[in-house]
Amino acid sequence: MIKSFGFGKLPLIFFGAGKVEQLSQLIRRYGEKILLVTGKFSFLNTPAGIRFREIAEKEGLNLSSLVISGEPSDLMIDDAVSAYRNDMPDVIVAIGGGSAMDAGKAISAMITVEGNIKNFLEGVGYLDHPGTKIPFIAVPATSGTGSEATKNAVISRIGEDGFKKSLRHDNFVPDIALVDPELTITCPPDITAASGMDCFTQLAEAYLSTKSNLYTDALAIEGLKAVKASLVKAYLDGSDTEARSGMAFAALTSGICLANAGLGVVHGFASSAGGLYEIPHGLICGTLMAVSNELTVKRLREKKDGQTALDKYAVLAKLFLSDTGAKDDNELTDEFIEYLHKLTAELRLPGLKEAGITESSLEKIALITECKNNPVELDTPDLMEILHRRL
Ligand SMILES: [Fe+2]
Repeated sequence: MIKSFGFGKLPLIFFGAGKVEQLSQLIRRYGEKILLVTGKFSFLNTPAGIRFREIAEKEGLNLSSLVISGEPSDLMIDDAVSAYRNDMPDVIVAIGGGSAMDAGKAISAMITVEGNIKNFLEGVGYLDHPGTKIPFIAVPATSGTGSEATKNAVISRIGEDGFKKSLRHDNFVPDIALVDPELTITCPPDITAASGMDCFTQLAEAYLSTKSNLYTDALAIEGLKAVKASLVKAYLDGSDTEARSGMAFAALTSGICLANAGLGVVHGFASSAGGLYEIPHGLICGTLMAVSNELTVKRLREKKDGQTALDKYAVLAKLFLSDTGAKDDNELTDEFIEYLHKLTAELRLPGLKEAGITESSLEKIALITECKNNPVELDTPDLMEILHRRL
């Protein structure tokens, strides 16, 4: 029997090289007054951005722009909302990585309600957002978070009492996701690696999730095939347009999968450690992926009802390993974990020490880490072991 499931909204998706040329035309569906949200490497200074400005000017679009440097904080969003609430744009367009897209998504939702965003964040605030927003178009310039297809915006305040939590509502799925792989060509190798591993983690966690279903599994497998074919190639040669296209597809697909199937323990760490320490989201996911899967497999093998998830690990192994020979599923899964460790090294993902995490802080992080929809619950010593091994 088919397992029960639900499947949420999707944005209108426009995918392909050169699609950015259609942006001003798509914006016109909503009006002429645009707030453009970009990251610190502003899109507006790239050749595609200069061309977009020319078209926008010719078509009489009224453009204001806001640069978001770093992952968005609650105060950043509150400031932007107060600056634009009295002269509200017709549409918000975010072009950049996950930070710019999450900021744009959050501003489009918060500009319609009174109050600080912190009060509406999951696990931090006490208010339910009514789901109102102004139109929002997401245009990714990195291949990673999949925010162009998700219903949440991650907002953080870093420090002792910090948090990294979501503003979430079904209505916050972007109205349009315009995915043009050519926009990712200039993304440097370290960001390509970290954001690519974020995308890989999202696809694998959604596939293994206790909330996964036939639709999310089918999509996750296609996204994972693209990761296998493209991640290392895009890292080694950023100008490889085929690899960039594969990763842009994988990232978009990862967003759809995570929005509908949830995530696992790696993203639990991204929320807990990410709220306490200044560490980019992709980097924490990438650096913890191999060890977290290793511990998850170990605990699944000790459980009576872990076989369904172990079967899925064997599927992943067959997908990623080039030589599957006459090995049994357990051997293949062990080799897949080994593959993940080698990938972590090949992509030169740094350990947690670089972000200031020390042995003495591991328990504090572990105690506030949720396993989310991981196929097996890991206890505090397991979580500490994962962190310890990636210090
Ligand atoms: Fe992520």
